[in-house]
Amino acid sequence: MTQDALKQAVALAARDYVAAHLPAGAILGVGTGSTANLFIDALASIKDRLGGTVASSEATRRRLEGHDIRVLDLNEVEEMEIYVDGADEIDPGMAMIKGGGGALTREKIVAAVAKTFVCICDESKQVATLGRFPLPVEVIPMARAHVSRELIRLGGVPQLRAGFVTDNGNLIIDVQGLHITRPAELEARIDGIVGVVTNGLFARRGADVLLLATASGVVERGRDSA
Ligand code: A5P
Repeated sequence: MTQDALKQAVALAARDYVAAHLPAGAILGVGTGSTANLFIDALASIKDRLGGTVASSEATRRRLEGHDIRVLDLNEVEEMEIYVDGADEIDPGMAMIKGGGGALTREKIVAAVAKTFVCICDESKQVATLGRFPLPVEVIPMARAHVSRELIRLGGVPQLRAGFVTDNGNLIIDVQGLHITRPAELEARIDGIVGVVTNGLFARRGADVLLLATASGVVERGRDSA
């Protein structure tokens, strides 16, 4: 099975998960990336039962609106039942690295509001320890050099993502060489560097449910069984 076929399978499984678990008329948070895009396309078939969606990026907003799916401003939303998004890596404790597409800050904000974070990915994203995928860090432009020096002090090798500006007008530094055994601790430490907007560790608020596409089908795992 190709990776694209696995992404398609998990996108359909996520659509079915939403159909089964999202109360009619409730709000759904929608992630960003190639797997999330396939999920959005699948979601179109059940759009009438959604009260609305919140998009985690401008690209996701455009794709949802392209299917005539209603997109709300997060500030208009008091409760969100489910947030569905991909990941670049996920570990056995359901902590993730996200932000390969650069949408980490809005993804983390939407995820913070949601009651249930459903991570959708293929089995290539499953790792024993996070850190093989470079960790994205969104920074205020004038803090780029300062934040890079601090990331080196943490043992990382920072590299500015060339020619990339986030939806929030900021830069992304991708950090290689981190072997992340305590993801929640590192997430807090990096967020504590002045000039950092967000980093791509989703550990303090990890996934609650994992839909994992494998060659033998899509497997559902909860926090305790991951
Ligand atoms: C977007 O910024 C990311 O967090 C994505 O959710 C993540 O990179 C997964 O993307 P793919 O589904 O394209 O692998």
